[in-house]
Amino acid sequence: MSAGSEVKTCRVSVSLALFWGALACGSNVDVGSLGAEPALSSAVDENDDPMVVEVSLEAQKSFKRYGKSPDTAVWTYNGTIPGPLIEGRVGDTLRVHFTNSLPESTTIHWHGLRLPAAMDGTEAMQSPVPPEGTFEYEFELRDAGLFWFHPHVRSDVQVEKGLYGVIRVTSNEEPTVDQERIMVLDDVRVLSDGSLPTYLDDESKMLGRQGNILLVNGQAMPTFRWRSGSLQRFHIVNVANGRFFNLSLAGYAWRVIGTDGGWLPQPYDTDQLLVSPGERYDVALVATGDPGDETTLMNDPYERGHDTGAEPPLEVARFIVNDEPRVMGRVLPAISRELERLPDGAANHELVLDEGLIDGVLSFTINGETYPNVPPLSVPSGAIRRFDVRNASEMDHPFHVHGTFFQILSANGVPIPSADLANKDTVIVPRMSTLRLVSRFEEPGRWMYHCHIFEHAEGGMMGEITVAENP
Ligand code: C2O
Ligand code: CU
Repeated sequence: MSAGSEVKTCRVSVSLALFWGALACGSNVDVGSLGAEPALSSAVDENDDPMVVEVSLEAQKSFKRYGKSPDTAVWTYNGTIPGPLIEGRVGDTLRVHFTNSLPESTTIHWHGLRLPAAMDGTEAMQSPVPPEGTFEYEFELRDAGLFWFHPHVRSDVQVEKGLYGVIRVTSNEEPTVDQERIMVLDDVRVLSDGSLPTYLDDESKMLGRQGNILLVNGQAMPTFRWRSGSLQRFHIVNVANGRFFNLSLAGYAWRVIGTDGGWLPQPYDTDQLLVSPGERYDVALVATGDPGDETTLMNDPYERGHDTGAEPPLEVARFIVNDEPRVMGRVLPAISRELERLPDGAANHELVLDEGLIDGVLSFTINGETYPNVPPLSVPSGAIRRFDVRNASEMDHPFHVHGTFFQILSANGVPIPSADLANKDTVIVPRMSTLRLVSRFEEPGRWMYHCHIFEHAEGGMMGEITVAENP
């Protein structure tokens, strides 16, 4: 399909169902049958220029009903959780008029996007937008994939209250599928009166806040309907503070075609799709079964430390085969992508992630210090740097770097085969193990890196990389 207005028209007319694949533009998709699906609201593009996506986001108080709970007072972008879906194409300019109508300061960080540091929404580069304040973010969308946005101020609290949304950036070469969906995974702890706890208990400090309600696109246990035989594509992102999602769908394997920074050089199949906070996966599968057949998307136990693996399996969503006649002959996409492998070699830096008591307070450290006392690393613009990220703690940490992608060269000294190369911005560093990562740094400025369990980042596990302009 060629880029341009055709795509856009299709998108607008069926945007609630998030269809835009070539077939979805045709007549053989019954949009009406999807009424019960959890839809993302769409951001309104206020600019006629096809190369400019211009949207307004307002951080504002609102109410939300989670599952069967009474109304919860939440914080939102434009009144919805998730916030409005922003859609653009590679090469488009995104301009965001941001207004803060919350009672406290905030910023918007654009997770995974390569952009100028001044637009990255971190306190290293931007003074937080005060209540009643505004800010204009503007940058080019450089990479195709699913990205997301959230505050970078008190993110453990602000994201938990509902401040998050996604950005879908498409390329001109998207595979043709019958149906494409975005699944924003989250969880939230809601008390019986509908309120969110304000007190951070010890377990939440240690593991990150884990909720009692699992959410897909802001809904508890939603139902998705699909047509037997149809080729389905899912963009999955985990925006939870602390919960890892270990997804399985009985009878299916996930064909993983992409991750944080776009497509993989070579897809792979897996029964369990483990998605830690911050990570994204682009997966496909062919729906099977007869009308009415149901499959439950499960979050299976995964041991990320401190006995988290003893939690029971949890239901996430339901898939039901609809009444339409079976589609025949669909095959899983065999995408391939040339990915430049960054050079291997000795590490330039070692980052040791650990947890422990500092002056009696549970702290999460990098090289023994908590942010902002972690000494910043400096890198000249254009340089390639390798990091040994050593997790010395009893718990997995999803390690995230801003403003660039990295590749994983080895795990515990064992080289990662070229076939498994990927552009990542967030990766699980399993407990008591070491990953060697390599990255190229381009945009000058101060960039954050941190554990993406927000309670750990706010608890100290965060540092900065200063990329210096070449003289
Ligand atoms: Cu999604 Cu610094 O984070
Ligand atoms: Cu962590």
